Formats: sequence, structure tokens, C-alpha cells
Amino acid sequence: MKAHIVTLPGDGVGPEVTAAAVAVLKTVAARYEHVFTFDEQLIGGAAIDATGEPLPAASLAACQSADAVLLGAVGGPKWSDPNASVRPEQGLLALRAALGVYANLRPLQVHPALANLSPLKNEKLKNVDVLFVRELTGGAYFGAKTRSADTATDECKYTVAEVERVVRRAFELARGRRHHLTSVDKANVLETSRLWRSTVQRIAADYPDVKVEHQLVDSMAMLLLTQPNRYDVVVTENLFGDILTDEAAALAGSLGLLPSASMGDGKAGLYEPIHGSAPDIAGQGVANPVGAILSVALLLRHSLGLEAEAIAVEASVDRVLRHGPHSRDIGGTAGTEAVRDAVLAAIEDHADSTAAFFSGARACG
Ligand code: NAD
Ligand code: IPM
Ligand code: MN
Repeated sequence: MKAHIVTLPGDGVGPEVTAAAVAVLKTVAARYEHVFTFDEQLIGGAAIDATGEPLPAASLAACQSADAVLLGAVGGPKWSDPNASVRPEQGLLALRAALGVYANLRPLQVHPALANLSPLKNEKLKNVDVLFVRELTGGAYFGAKTRSADTATDECKYTVAEVERVVRRAFELARGRRHHLTSVDKANVLETSRLWRSTVQRIAADYPDVKVEHQLVDSMAMLLLTQPNRYDVVVTENLFGDILTDEAAALAGSLGLLPSASMGDGKAGLYEPIHGSAPDIAGQGVANPVGAILSVALLLRHSLGLEAEAIAVEASVDRVLRHGPHSRDIGGTAGTEAVRDAVLAAIEDHADSTAAFFSGARACG
């Protein structure tokens, strides 16, 4: 197939992990006979430095006509003055809003080879397989902001329509998994959460095969650590989802491991690791590219419909996590490029063995 992919490397380790992810896409294209075209564009601090804006019009236009967008990370100390008039993060938020990608899928699995890295006891981590569905284009991130000398406000607003579309997506995803949906809110305090909960309750009637539970976000933060394997699909609003998924990353062993897919109503999507620009390790060639590479697997699956290729990438990452090389954040000494090369070699082997299987099957049949 043909696909056009826009890349937005961004800042800090963003370009380092994006380069590894693009190498994976190129290997997949070569081995599975697809034609992927790439267009690299500016976002974040790099875009501010070059144009004064965190999301230049040319970058947005390119993203809007792409089959998928692959992003590294934005932000960093250079642009973090609290009094700055423009911030890199604004570019990412504007992009998510403009693309209408309201459902942010953040899968969490704990790889058995890495369970020792988690601060939790090993036995708690068995069978952890959670899909977070974070609302991505509403809530406090996008409400009106005010600031005077001694007061600041961030409005948190949700409409029923905004809640309904992401919750329906979560129910559909639960149907394809273990039929269990946990909706996380703060309905004991927040009006937006009461709207959220009543919307979930109404929609639940359309999905009688899915078991629904409601959990307050403070206790959910605790339950994620005490009983992580109880959860299947977890749906929540924007800010709660941001916080809970970084917490979830600690279960997996490193923030550098988790991918994400942001989807709207169509097939086009925005793919990014959940981590940030990691200024403390940027430029050293040591960032873990696995979150970005697994984001490529989600891109292949959700935007391009290439399930076998997505599985090939996931199986290749699995092999590298099992046997190494490992980057520093997960206890190894390998750099970004060494991990990338090991994943590329595993994709080659995976494609070889699949091809051998099919030619063997032909010979037998
Ligand atoms: P961060 O995610 O950048 O880093 C947190 C910690 O995790 C650091 O110790 C870092 O070294 C480590 N880490 C992150 N990614 C890693 C990787 N791939 N391999 C190994 N270790 C990794 O969070 P932060 O330091 O709070 O934020 C830094 C900047 O990134 C801020 O400007 C923030 O706004 C931005 N940010 C951007 C995104 C995004 O672009 N999607 C996401 C989160 C944070
Ligand atoms: C994330 C990041 C972003 C968010 C920031 C950089 C705007 O933390 O993608 O998780 O809060 O959504
Ligand atoms: Mn975050």
C-alpha cells in the first residue's frame, strides 16, 4: 500500500527516538512491499526558534493531509520561562485540537523481562494489560485561561457530545478486549465529572455486554499500584489521563516504553510516545526508542490497517526486551541506535520466518 506520513521530531530526545521509529517504518516498507513517503515538519521549541510559532501553518497543513503523523516530543528548559508568551506545548495542543484526535489510546503491559525494574512486587505485575483511553481535546487543557497579578484560572469544561464520543470509543474497545470498562472521574467534587458519569451511565445501556465500574481518580491512583491487573479499559478525562498514564509507566519499568495513538473519527491519527523531551538525557544518544517504535506499531494498525506488520514490530520489540540490548533506563548500557538496530534485525528475521512458513505451507499443500 501507499501511505504518506508526516514526522514531527520536535525537541530534546524527540528527534533521537523519531529517527529510530522512521527507520522501523522504512524497514517495514521494504520487507512488506509498501511505499511510505515521509515529510518532516517543525513543531514545539524547534519551530519557535525557526519561525516564532510552536505550530507553523505549513506544519499543520502537512499534518492535515497526511495518512498519519508521528511525533517525538516537545518542550524543554530553553522555552520553559513561566512568563514566556509562547510555549512549545501549545503547538502540540493546537495540533491535537486541529486534527480532532479526541481519543488518546495508551496501552500498558508489563514485559516479564522488565518486571524487576518496577517499584512494585513482581507478583502484582502478572497479567497487567490495561488500555487507557484519555480524552485529549477538552477539559482544563483547552478551557479559558485568565491571569492577573495575584490570580489565575483555568476553566475545565466538557460538553455531553465531547464525553459521549470518547466514551463510546472506549466501550467499543472494551468489546474487542475483556469487556470491562472503568470510568475514572471526581464526581464527588467536580460538576464536569458528574456530567461525565451520567453520560457513561446512559451510554452503558447500549453495551450490556460490557461490565462498567466508576472509580474516583484519587482512589484509582492508589488502585493502579495495588491491583493493576484488575483493569481492562480505563476511560477518563484529559488531565486525569495524563497523570494516571505516567504513573502506569512506572509499572512497566520506564516512561520510555509506552506508546500512544490519538484518533478522531477517521483513520488518520497522531502517534507519539507518552514521554516528553527528557532534557536530562537529550543529545546523549541514550534515550529508549521503544515507546516511539511501539507507536509505529499502533500507526500501522490503526491508521494503515496493517495488522501483520504491526504484530511484526511488536514481536520484534518483545524479542529485544527479552534478550537485549537494553537502554540505560531499563538497566542496560545500549544507546538509542543499538536498540534500534536490534529491533530492525528482529523485523528482518520475523519477515524471513513468516516468508519461510508460507513457502513451506505452499510446498506441503
Ligand atoms: P519527560 O517525560 O521528558 O522525562 C521524565 C523522566 O523520564 C526523565 O528522567 C527522562 O530522562 C525520562 N525519560 C523520558 N523519556 C525517556 C526515554 N525515551 N528514554 C529514557 N528515559 C526517558 O518529562 P519532564 O522532564 O517532566 O518534561 C520535559 C519536557 O517535556 C517538558 O517541557 C514537558 O512539557 C515536555 N513533555 C512533552 C511531551 C510530548 O511532547 N508529548 C510529553 C511529556 C512532557
Ligand atoms: C503528554 C504530555 C502533554 C500533555 C504536554 C506536553 C502538553 O504531557 O502528551 O502526556 O499534557 O498532554
Ligand atoms: Mn504527559
